[in-house]
Amino acid sequence: MAVNITLTMIKPEAVGKNYVGPILNMINEAGFKIAAMKLTKLSTRQAEAFYAVHSDRPFYTDLVEFMSSGPIVTAILEKENAVADFRKLIGATNPANAEKGTIRKLYAESLQKNAVHGSDSDENAQVEADFFFAKSDRVDYM
Ligand code: CMP
Repeated sequence: MAVNITLTMIKPEAVGKNYVGPILNMINEAGFKIAAMKLTKLSTRQAEAFYAVHSDRPFYTDLVEFMSSGPIVTAILEKENAVADFRKLIGATNPANAEKGTIRKLYAESLQKNAVHGSDSDENAQVEADFFFAKSDRVDYM
């Protein structure tokens, strides 16, 4: 299995509730290496661009407003099978359906305020990593 990357964001409500430390701890304990990381705040335009794939969905406007409402922590995570393993670690999009012990089960508030984002494919992980980070921002462990 090749080592690859995924992109995460710890979302504004989870940052606001001081869950950054516990969430990063779970990410480390699960064997992910942090290849780049920063605290930042999305502008409305950046949030619109990041979630452009959802622009036709009824929740898009609210999602953009929420994701630009406060600071986020975003990181590139490296591991074998990173995309699938991270999605397992975070649990279902809706925390009500997330398995016990997952990040969303422990720390998410609602379907929208679901604590963390994780890329859904290797291709999107690359696009999303490039959205936030220059090549020179990344540590290469490979
Ligand atoms: P995320 O993994 O960041 O990808 C898209 C986000 O849209 C998702 O997490 C949720 O925060 C949000 N989302 C997805 N479906 C819904 C929905 N039905 N209603 C409200 N928000 C949603």
